[in-house]
Amino acid sequence: MEQPPHAIVTRRLAADPAGVADAAAILRAGGTVAFPTETVYGLGADATAGEAVARIYEAKQRPRFNPLIAHLADADEAFSHGVFDADARLLAKTFWPGPLTLVVPMAPGSPVSDLARAGLSSVGLRVPDHAIARALLREAGRPIVAPSANRSGHVSPTMAAHVLTDLDGRIDAVLDGGATRVGVESTIVACFDDGPRLLRSGGVPREAIEHVLGRPLAEGGGAIVAPGMLASHYAPDAQLRLSVTDIRAGEAVLLFGDQAPLGLEQASSVINLSPRGDLAEAAARLFAALRELDSSGATSIAVAPIPARGIGEAIRDRLIRAAAPRS
Ligand code: TXA
Ligand code: MG
Repeated sequence: MEQPPHAIVTRRLAADPAGVADAAAILRAGGTVAFPTETVYGLGADATAGEAVARIYEAKQRPRFNPLIAHLADADEAFSHGVFDADARLLAKTFWPGPLTLVVPMAPGSPVSDLARAGLSSVGLRVPDHAIARALLREAGRPIVAPSANRSGHVSPTMAAHVLTDLDGRIDAVLDGGATRVGVESTIVACFDDGPRLLRSGGVPREAIEHVLGRPLAEGGGAIVAPGMLASHYAPDAQLRLSVTDIRAGEAVLLFGDQAPLGLEQASSVINLSPRGDLAEAAARLFAALRELDSSGATSIAVAPIPARGIGEAIRDRLIRAAAPRS
């Protein structure tokens, strides 16, 4: 494993006013701080400072520059960084604060750095629905870019302990706000002249967005590239088998609802994402469960079928990526 260019002592900060103040000071000084949002933990840096943004790539060992999401404390601030058409404004007013990222043309004069946007003329904006995150953003007083706070290609962190497993000694601090509520990343919608497009399923279900827009969302990026959508992106070490109804000897098993696949007694370990069949509960537990089954030493994780409705679409998307052959 490649070593960090210089060892850093990663500070553990409590999610209280003093911890938030320390975290904001580190961000303003160009450092990197992992912080909780309602979706997953993000690795934050000053979006307006290219050098600070570069530290994120170094810490995550991201192979190339992807556009990052700039996080703001409230919608009015976000409006000053992008050009919002009627659809974008409607979605922002309806779903912010919340697990929705809007990709829009960058507003002329926005100080979000070129590196944060990976050189694109568009910008990804999000107002998280999390008291600690918003307090931190308010105190930082500038847009903060934050990809998920994991090493590149790993499962996203939903607890501070996950962040430290991946990034201890590589980032300046982690603000510990407990487990995240939603558990999968934000839904990403791009709003350009060709109408709203779904770039990534996530915390806001597609149905809710289509209901507000009054029409179906177009799929895929069109002309837009979202490099974060690499086929193999949320990869545990173990091989995943999806929509499984029969278990092989020694497999780790991820269940949902009251399913009882054949051969379950041969499993080496079993986690049920939601015994009562609640998809929101399943999303919140997904990444922690994948980490736990992966670290159990099993070489194969069998995943029971997950319904496609609501946030189930995002769960299935992440599982398909986790199961994809490694590039
Ligand atoms: O829930 C989330 O969105 C979390 C938390 C921390 O906020 N963040 C997150 O960031 O998932 P990340 O970097 O893992 O994913 C960002 C995605 C990438 O797929 C990237 O390509 C896309 O957003 N993106 C950002 N800006 C874009 C732009 N201008 N054009 C196209 N895609 C963009
Ligand atoms: Mg990520």
